[in-house]
Amino acid sequence: MRLDKYICQATPLTRSQAKKVISQGRITNNDSCIRSSAYKVSENEVISLDGKQIALRGLRYIMLNKPQDFICSTVDEQLPTVFNLIDVEKREQLFIAGRLDADTTGLILITDDGQWSHQITSPRKKCSKCYRVGLAEPIEDNASEQFKAGIQLKNESQPCLPAKLEIISEKEVLLTISEGKYHQVKRMFAAIGNHVTALHREQIGKIELDSKLELGEWRYLSEQEVNSIA
Ligand code: URA
Repeated sequence: MRLDKYICQATPLTRSQAKKVISQGRITNNDSCIRSSAYKVSENEVISLDGKQIALRGLRYIMLNKPQDFICSTVDEQLPTVFNLIDVEKREQLFIAGRLDADTTGLILITDDGQWSHQITSPRKKCSKCYRVGLAEPIEDNASEQFKAGIQLKNESQPCLPAKLEIISEKEVLLTISEGKYHQVKRMFAAIGNHVTALHREQIGKIELDSKLELGEWRYLSEQEVNSIA
């Protein structure tokens, strides 16, 4: 990896600040000064800034309990973004693995690991997502069969993949889907003549929303949670 990129990833410095500390002669490896930003840092090389060793930060994996009226975007528009809730260094390097609508609450996963995120968001991986859904009308008796058979959404050529519906009460269900079409859950219920009044994501793959997290709170994932996304 180039030295300026390495410094940028290992410290709070921006790329231009990294180039500056290099040109100021403040970067050393085994006591010799490196003054080229293009210098290639080898795997086990010890790099120091002002005599203090620096090291690459590992990749980050975060779960957040998203409140309503926060958007899953990097730029504040009419509403604040979920990134306002996460106070970490280099927030701009993080992205969301599977967005939620502004009025949906619950589990979102945030990372700077593109490959890991791909396992969650790629349609080919069929990663499951479980939602608790509040409904305007009582759920029909045969709804589970309809979801299992594949709901046909308006303006889509193919029906949805089979989905699992568990009925909790007349107007509350758990729905597990393994796709991520635009507004999919709301459109699925619209397709069977119902209307979603509340939507909360509880699980992605094997990762369950931590019940200790209040709306707006977050924590890093455990190693086991990270590794559960294969
Ligand atoms: N399906 C929806 O309709 N909205 C979401 O936020 C997530 C899934």
